[in-house]
Amino acid sequence: MKKVYIETLGCQMNKSDEERMLGMLQWLDYEQTLTSREADLLIINTCSIRQLSEDKAFSAIGTWGKWKRKRPDLKIVFAGCVAQQKKKDLFKRAPYIDLVLGTQRLYELPELIKRIENGERICSTEEIPVSEENLTIIRKEGTNAWIPIMEGCNNFCTYCIVPYTRGRERSREFENIMIEVKKALDEGFKEITLLGQNVDSYSGKNSSGEDVNLAKLLREIDALSNVYGKFRIRFLTSYPTDITEELIDTVVELDNVCEYFHIPMQSGDDYTLKKMNRRYDVATYTKICNHIRDKVKDVTITSDFIAGFPGETEEQFQNTCKTMLDLELDYSNTAAYSPREGTVAAKWTDKFLSREVKEERLARLNVALRAACLKSNQKYIGREMEILVEKFENHKGININSGRTRNNKMVHVPCDTNRIGEFINVKITNAKTWYLSGELI
Ligand code: SAH
Ligand code: SF4
Ligand code: F3S
Repeated sequence: MKKVYIETLGCQMNKSDEERMLGMLQWLDYEQTLTSREADLLIINTCSIRQLSEDKAFSAIGTWGKWKRKRPDLKIVFAGCVAQQKKKDLFKRAPYIDLVLGTQRLYELPELIKRIENGERICSTEEIPVSEENLTIIRKEGTNAWIPIMEGCNNFCTYCIVPYTRGRERSREFENIMIEVKKALDEGFKEITLLGQNVDSYSGKNSSGEDVNLAKLLREIDALSNVYGKFRIRFLTSYPTDITEELIDTVVELDNVCEYFHIPMQSGDDYTLKKMNRRYDVATYTKICNHIRDKVKDVTITSDFIAGFPGETEEQFQNTCKTMLDLELDYSNTAAYSPREGTVAAKWTDKFLSREVKEERLARLNVALRAACLKSNQKYIGREMEILVEKFENHKGININSGRTRNNKMVHVPCDTNRIGEFINVKITNAKTWYLSGELI
């Protein structure tokens, strides 16, 4: 067997792509190694959401390039979102790359690997998706299986590179998704997370040509518990105004679907939201949030925010901090604005804020974030909750089982037996900013 090392940066979509790449490479007799030094094939699976993520990719492969001078047979693949965006320019920057693999050419990998093994140098980034027949996936061990159901984005928020790296929205066929879900459940995964850049605009077809939306897909997956017993279903990421009444009702109705929505808001200021080309204002987002909370008991709503968008005033920024607290969002990813080449906002250079201002605002946003998270966690002290154990670790001499509640709260439970993969009932005893503590009942 030859050895492949993959380093994946970025979001769950990239992690899922890694599992697919490993599955395909198995046909070519490659096995995974976690030690890059001993690999025959090195793959970097990149993310371009911010400059920092892009820089990480280049610093990793710099070392690989040096190794290749001594071992010319070593093959280097540059995949993922930076590959899709920079295409063959990457050869100029890193001439030792053998293959540039775009996000929509993933399924060509086996054929392309054979060609680079024969000495070719290839850039395959055309935006025509390759068909996903004969799928093999090597999933990371654990309790959760990531299953992409749609990819791409048509929204073109002015700051965001994703529409350029993942292409236009495409939904996978219903039956292909069901095959994957069943396989993951057969393998013993206890949680299925359906993935998409805008998962709530999933609009697939079944083999009879009928439309299947996310609510229907959830119903079909939920029904599998007749065969497989208890498991959990999650989905992310939701675009605020694409969440339908039917979807909310479905989450309430189905036992296996968890009470959790990830709904990025990006800014708590109406003017900034307009400049970002988001299709809602603060009042609309608030209404959606409140409506979900009215209907879905104990729901967790998490979000993403950007600090220091071009032209953002101090007052507009403060609106964002205030909104995060007022809405009592349970958790948020936060980031300082990073200009991405080719996007609309990246051209507004005269409106850019200095690095210092952006970093200072991000730090203040994180103060609001910590307060919001702690407040959210404190609600659960004294409550009984079910967790699915993901990890068993020794922390300073104490054995801890940790896992998530249905509404995605991380709970640490002291317990000497490894309960990974089990659903256990716990009583919440304490709340910290980032997690809860509990005891077995
Ligand atoms: N599809 C999701 C978000 C996908 S990108 C949505 O529409 O909400 C993940 C997150 O990265 C975004 O929610 C945003 O907060 C952040 N992000 C995207 N582009 C960014 C940029 N140029 N600078 C800083 N953060 C960015
Ligand atoms: Fe990016 Fe906006 Fe699409 Fe989300 S909806 S992926 S932020 S362009
Ligand atoms: Fe990054 Fe691409 Fe995901 S840019 S966040 S890896 S879709």
